[in-house]
Amino acid sequence: MKKHTNAFVIWGVAVALATGLFALAACGKANKPKSAADTAAATSPETFADVKSIAEVKMPDQYKAQFPEEVATFEADTTPLRPVESYLKIFPFLNTIYAGSAFAKSYDTPRPHLDALSDAKGSARISAKSNSVCYACKSSQYTIAQNSGQNLAKTSFADQKSTMTQTITCYDCHKNYPGSGSRTRQTANGTYLGAIRTAFTTAFATEIKGGRMAPADAACGQCHNEYYFDPKTGEVSMPKELNDPAKIFDFYEKMGFFDHVNPNTGARMLKAQHPEYDMVSSDTSSMHARNGMTCADCHMEKTASGATSHKLTGPLYSAEIRKRVCLSCHTEGDAALVSTITKINAAMMAEITTKGNALAKFTDDLAAANKSGRYSAAQLDPIRAQEREAQWFLDWVMNENSKGLHNPRQAQQCLERCASVTAAGEAALAALSK
Ligand code: HEC
Ligand code: HEC
Ligand code: HEC
Ligand code: HEC
Repeated sequence: MKKHTNAFVIWGVAVALATGLFALAACGKANKPKSAADTAAATSPETFADVKSIAEVKMPDQYKAQFPEEVATFEADTTPLRPVESYLKIFPFLNTIYAGSAFAKSYDTPRPHLDALSDAKGSARISAKSNSVCYACKSSQYTIAQNSGQNLAKTSFADQKSTMTQTITCYDCHKNYPGSGSRTRQTANGTYLGAIRTAFTTAFATEIKGGRMAPADAACGQCHNEYYFDPKTGEVSMPKELNDPAKIFDFYEKMGFFDHVNPNTGARMLKAQHPEYDMVSSDTSSMHARNGMTCADCHMEKTASGATSHKLTGPLYSAEIRKRVCLSCHTEGDAALVSTITKINAAMMAEITTKGNALAKFTDDLAAANKSGRYSAAQLDPIRAQEREAQWFLDWVMNENSKGLHNPRQAQQCLERCASVTAAGEAALAALSK
């Protein structure tokens, strides 16, 4: 029924040979696949209808006979990759720098997709004031309702609890058309793989239509990337065509956007949100993206028969992925690769803690200056802007679920910017009291 080839390796080798970067050499510009067939597909009239209600969404059970392995693995995705812990305990400085944000109430390491909706419903971040827009990346039901003209964004989260009942399912990545989709095109052979959420397909329309975004990146990126709530509509929005943290910061600056106010310092703060797609896809610094690797390459195993396992995992947890995907380039061997991943992770966690502690101290110092009543807004506002900037660049790394592993270079740059702005802020405070 299904014919699978190890598409990544074959394609990866082809790219590597074509561009002469097979060894771990520094690489050039993006090498996303593009053929005549892809271009034709991008303009193909083939459409994959959106449904009008959740009743029309085909459920895993209905695919069991046709796709037994995909369904079985999908349904087996019930255990978190690592024991769930509170970030507020792992990084105690968050309690200071997140003051005024709902994230100061509760913020845990992630759980599996099947838990996404129930987790949101039970989250201590949700209050009587929370809006239904929070369902946007937990249930396709929200997306379907919005697409059929219902405007739920600003309705009460609590009021929709009984109507929002379906967590992430096949529809979120395949609409009603799963099947052996192409790696390089959103649609192939009557099947669909990609984003269903218009905030994402609008923000990245050029990349998607031009065939420059791999379908397996679009499918995951629609939820795993930075977004903001449009101040007018309350709807999820994404900075158009932007995935670089410095450019997104400038975009929010220009817009005057803020997520919350820190009540202690009076600063108008930003909150970065799980920018996995942004960090992975940034072609200014991500080695793997430049080599065309997708989220699925690193987070979905292949079963013995060649089907894609839908129980999400990661390179650290999966010898199968390391063997099939990583070791084709990383000739240093499995043990050395695991050790590199573990070391980079430990170094990054330590770095986040050091920078975070410095930022928390700066935040406390600014709060004290603010409370003293000795300084004017004209004196404090530029320092509040420094708190905002330093926190954005720390948060970008802290909130990114790989903690910088997806793009160590970019993570490093962000942490350095956080540290230098924090130091400048402390100096500005010291100058005030002279
Ligand atoms: C509909 C939105 C959505 C889509 C699409 C999506 N994710 Fe997720 N993902 C989430 C949410 C929300 C969580 C956290 C759930 C929780 O903690 O309750 C999550 C968690 C995860 C986790 C952590 C799981 C664990 O057990 O620790 C991984 C890994 C992951 N996603 C990878 C992916 C990949 C790879 C794709 C694409 C194949 C993808 N996600 C597509 C929303 C999404
Ligand atoms: C979070 C996104 C996501 C969800 C949810 C999801 N899929 Fe997939 N699916 C993918 C990705 C990504 C691929 C392709 C992987 C690749 O290109 O390596 C894929 C591939 C497939 C394929 C092609 C054959 C294969 O095994 O590679 C089938 C069939 C399929 N999925 C069925 C399903 C069914 C049935 C469900 C619901 C039980 C489902 N998928 C849920 C992301 C998803
Ligand atoms: C080159 C390989 C690679 C690519 C491409 C990649 N990841 Fe990862 N990802 C990793 C590694 C390594 C980790 C760290 C822990 C591990 O091994 O899972 C990680 C961790 C994660 C986590 C945190 C899992 C946990 O332990 O809680 C999430 C969520 C995630 N990635 C999502 C994505 C998404 C979404 C994409 C695509 C936009 C993506 N990744 C692309 C390698 C990759
Ligand atoms: C197409 C070839 C290729 C594949 C496949 C590949 N890598 Fe890499 N990887 C590279 C290159 C090139 C570098 C950059 C080396 C350097 O700068 O010295 C790199 C660097 C890394 C680094 C160091 C941090 C960084 O980004 O500079 C880690 C960790 C890593 N890879 C993990 C993985 C894992 C895990 C997999 C499998 C999921 C994988 N790689 C698959 C080519 C590849």
